[in-house]
Amino acid sequence: MNMQNRIHLSVAHLGGREQEYVKEAFDSNWVTTAGHNIDAFEKDLEKFLGNNSHALALYSGTAAIHLALILMDVKDGDEVLCQSFTYSASANPIFYQRATPVFVDSEEKTWNMSPEHLERAIKDRIKKGKKPKAVIPVHLYGMPASMDEILAIAAKYEIPVIEDAAESLGSVYKGINCGTFGDLSILSFNGNKIITTAGGGVLVSGNQELIRKALYLSTQARDATTHYQHSQIGYNYRMSNILAGIGRAQMQVLPQRIEQRRKNNIYYREHLSCIDGISFLTESSPDIFSNYWLTTILVDKAKTGGADWKAIQEKLEEANIESRPLWKPMHLQPVFRDCPFYGDGTSDALFEKGLCLPSGSILSEEDLQRVVEVIRKTVKCDTR
Ligand SMILES: Cc1ncc(COP(=O)(O)O)c(C=O)c1O
Repeated sequence: MNMQNRIHLSVAHLGGREQEYVKEAFDSNWVTTAGHNIDAFEKDLEKFLGNNSHALALYSGTAAIHLALILMDVKDGDEVLCQSFTYSASANPIFYQRATPVFVDSEEKTWNMSPEHLERAIKDRIKKGKKPKAVIPVHLYGMPASMDEILAIAAKYEIPVIEDAAESLGSVYKGINCGTFGDLSILSFNGNKIITTAGGGVLVSGNQELIRKALYLSTQARDATTHYQHSQIGYNYRMSNILAGIGRAQMQVLPQRIEQRRKNNIYYREHLSCIDGISFLTESSPDIFSNYWLTTILVDKAKTGGADWKAIQEKLEEANIESRPLWKPMHLQPVFRDCPFYGDGTSDALFEKGLCLPSGSILSEEDLQRVVEVIRKTVKCDTR
């Protein structure tokens, strides 16, 4: 057994003041889904995101997507366009509404939704008699999607955008923060994200009325009557005031966390770029800024002399280092096998070649060195 400490893929990295704000919740006895920490956390997020954002803290990013779909009136029999190359949480809430996801393949430049396949999908669905009710692009691993093109297509066909920015808090596209592009946008504060509330999410919109409606739905849709009256089905989706305390402290260290994740990415590039057959997902122009939530590599075994991502993962595991294959695209998932898909094999190929390296902001330079050494031993490094 390897006796060295385990290096994890991405774990919580506390800033220091979390317990102080959590204690505040206990001291004031606001141990519920309302209170000062929630208000303050939402304000912090709005200030950070800018772009006239209104934020509603919820118990998960998945809950935020679910509410966004309800607010866009997605219901039984509807269709929703969704990036195929993503984590299942982007698509699951479409099924909660008994609607059908229509999956759209990625482009090579960003690994995110291909504008070309998006437009092809919209035209074909309309031709088949059903205009999609919403489109869900994702900024995977922190890399911004091609938002100019995606927003233009969505506007052309008048389809609302639900932006899944779960992995991209701190990423910027042409001067604008990811998480503010959608009619509704979502972020996640799951334990492995760039900042965490242990578990949590937020719904963001420039439209305050939509956020007001989301608050109503997330607190069991109670009518404005003195007795308990309900005219609509509600949900218990609000974030706890205790967890929002963690979020407040995490917001104070967010700029450092972004810098640390980006430094990991630079380190890996500097030390692995010598290997023929290993390539990185890269910002395509100076006005694209990724938080590099996870650093990802593609391994081309034809160039590495036979070593593929699985060989690297195996050796990393032997050295007590966690890594993870890229997300398996949704159109390849058994649970979504009957859903329509528009693509050309781009995300299939990414899935076959890719690996996520340990990327937490908590990693030390020694940790990064350990990862690099294992990879350089597994795949011959050409130091010409
Ligand atoms: C792309 C993506 N969408 C949605 C989610 C859902 O967020 P949560 O885990 O907070 O429900 C996650 C993360 O878990 C994610 O990575």
